[in-house]
Amino acid sequence: MQKTVNQSILPYTARINEQNHLEIGGCDTVELVKKYGTPLYVYDEEGIRTCCKHYKDAFSAYGDVLILYASKAFMTRAVCKIMKEECLGLDVVSGGEIYTAMNSGFAMQKCYFNGNNKTPEEIELALYCNVGRITVDNFYELELLNKIAAEKEITANILLRITPGIECHTHEYIKTGQIDSKFGFDLAQLEEAVLKIKTDYNNLSLKGLHAHIGSQIFEKDVYVDLVGIIAEQYAKIKQKYGMEFTEINLGGGIGVKHTEEDDPISIYEFAEVIIPALNENIKKHNLERPKLLLEPGRSIICNSGVTLYRAGSYKQVTDGRKYIAVDGGMSDNPRPSMYQAKYTALVANKVNSNNEETVTIAGKYCESGDILIEAIKLPAISPGDIICIPATGAYNYSMASQYNRAPRPAAIIVHKGRSDVIIKRESYQDLISFDVIPERLAKSGFSCI
Ligand SMILES: Cc1ncc(COP(=O)(O)O)c(C=O)c1O
Repeated sequence: MQKTVNQSILPYTARINEQNHLEIGGCDTVELVKKYGTPLYVYDEEGIRTCCKHYKDAFSAYGDVLILYASKAFMTRAVCKIMKEECLGLDVVSGGEIYTAMNSGFAMQKCYFNGNNKTPEEIELALYCNVGRITVDNFYELELLNKIAAEKEITANILLRITPGIECHTHEYIKTGQIDSKFGFDLAQLEEAVLKIKTDYNNLSLKGLHAHIGSQIFEKDVYVDLVGIIAEQYAKIKQKYGMEFTEINLGGGIGVKHTEEDDPISIYEFAEVIIPALNENIKKHNLERPKLLLEPGRSIICNSGVTLYRAGSYKQVTDGRKYIAVDGGMSDNPRPSMYQAKYTALVANKVNSNNEETVTIAGKYCESGDILIEAIKLPAISPGDIICIPATGAYNYSMASQYNRAPRPAAIIVHKGRSDVIIKRESYQDLISFDVIPERLAKSGFSCI
């Protein structure tokens, strides 16, 4: 079975060069740091494109398929351009993501709009720029969308998001009759929603159902159950209401390798589970073959991104741990402190040197919990060494903050020896550029000294 990009910790093009430096996309990371500074997000273009190709190739046997990149994982205009060139669509979840897609010339019919509380303004924007589908999450939104579409005298093409009663944890899952989630209609509410669309909401056209059961999923069987549950609903609705759905959206979720302990399935294994499950259910329930939609985010981009930091201060606790502090941390990667996410690291300027000491990699922000990696064995680290944390391409920049007034780092993309900025590094000036001093404070001459 062909290995796919999500199964390797390091980016697709990563290698160690003659200087014992980490190289990505034909660029020496030590040189990248000299040129762009740290912290620095580095994206491997070939890895991203290869992953898109793996998805398209793996699912081509099904027939009508559209892979929607889940932009929440990492979205910039350059990423939109790459997705466009790779013929993917986009899963967008906010006005900001819709605007970014539109602004980068994306075919908006290939944008599918998700979210559990789309504002009227976001719905207006989505309809204005003619997104392909709006995935409706609840009864309030059905009514709101129908009203806005009616005012505009248009028909909105929609999917309904359901919570199928499958709860996923990374290495286990459970099926329950009902799960308590802020997203989607539970199965007991689905018929009522369908009936309302059929009888009351003349400006909505329902194309099918959507479900997303979780993220960083390592299981396969969970997807077989998911297809079975959705297909049963298709059969029931067809039989009762004579509605034949033309699309099925199975969401995203397949896992990636962050550390040696992680063993995610390949994109080909994923397809080998989904396609037969769909074929069997289509036959079993005598359904028309629906168009298949998938929304992978993490598995497309995570392993093509690394973060480079400079090591700074260090501290040996008496009879305790040795800390190495880097010049970033929870502001550029909140996942360890938010989710206890595990990462590994390497020293990019001495990759193959002997691992000599066990250290804890700490961030520089004012929280004791700002620890990026606990107890990792690495070569002896001196201030100025470059620490690389791989598999930080997804939900890192997109969740980054300016906590402690830290300017957000730059992101660059590397390809065949070339490096280009895709997000500029923020400056101190940028940090204050949205601050406003009200006139009455600006005018006040009072000073406590
Ligand atoms: C509705 C929906 N689709 C797709 C995704 C992407 O998931 P992943 O990045 O795990 O593939 C998410 C992530 O939260 C989501 O909520």
